[in-house]
Amino acid sequence: MRIVLLGAPGSGKGTQAALLKEMYGIPHIATGDILRTEVAEGTELGGKAERYMNEGGLVPDDLILEMVEARVRRPDTRRGWLMDGFPRTLEQAEGLRIMTERIEQRVDAGVILNVDPEVVVRRLSGRRVCESCQAVTNVSEMRAGACPLCGGKLVLRPDDEPQVVRRRIEVFEQQTRPVFEYFREHYDVVDIDASKTVDQVTEALRRGLDRYDHS
Ligand code: AP5
Repeated sequence: MRIVLLGAPGSGKGTQAALLKEMYGIPHIATGDILRTEVAEGTELGGKAERYMNEGGLVPDDLILEMVEARVRRPDTRRGWLMDGFPRTLEQAEGLRIMTERIEQRVDAGVILNVDPEVVVRRLSGRRVCESCQAVTNVSEMRAGACPLCGGKLVLRPDDEPQVVRRRIEVFEQQTRPVFEYFREHYDVVDIDASKTVDQVTEALRRGLDRYDHS
């Protein structure tokens, strides 16, 4: 099963992917998470990506395409994958189509998480990430300011500062929203109302993805 999760920053891609990967037993490939690890480890790719990320812009397509192909070729993707945060430009979408043909894989569906901009801003201003285990939570769910999973310290992601969030939303509208139409032309698409609660969105996803082979 190969699924691409598409949606604005803060639409809930990471939250839902963390649940779906358990449900379907396939790896969650999040380009944002891979890039943050590269930055934290001080790699060459991390050095090139950091400035774009901190300013709310996109990392160049050639770097992303190379990084995604290397990840998708790893042996744990034999039964499929769940892509989150990629593709984000028409060039990346075309790159995905060419890459999957070349390595003889098929994308089953794109899932579009639809959510209003004001919901996005509210969610991102409340998002906190655990410094120890990287779990994502929201101020509305926090108990005494500690990670609900490991008790670690919760921090604001640098690109969740309000001025960077505004820039990320602009970039999404200009460069990523056109990818939705590309997907409608080339793949099956499942539309989800992502403004509902986490559980309601998960249930809608489960129903929407039921028809695809996850044996
Ligand atoms: P990335 O990490 O991919 O960020 P993003 O796409 O902007 O997505 P987010 O992680 O902000 O949001 P999400 O949709 O995963 O929401 P979440 O589940 O966390 O990318 C970061 C940067 O890396 C980019 O800006 C770019 O620079 C670079 N990059 C990455 N990929 C790239 C690519 N392909 N090309 C070029 N550059 C790339 O939820 C958000 C909050 O809402 C959380 O607090 C959560 O608890 C809460 N929440 C979630 N769902 C619900 C719900 N249903 N109800 C209430 N609260 C909810």
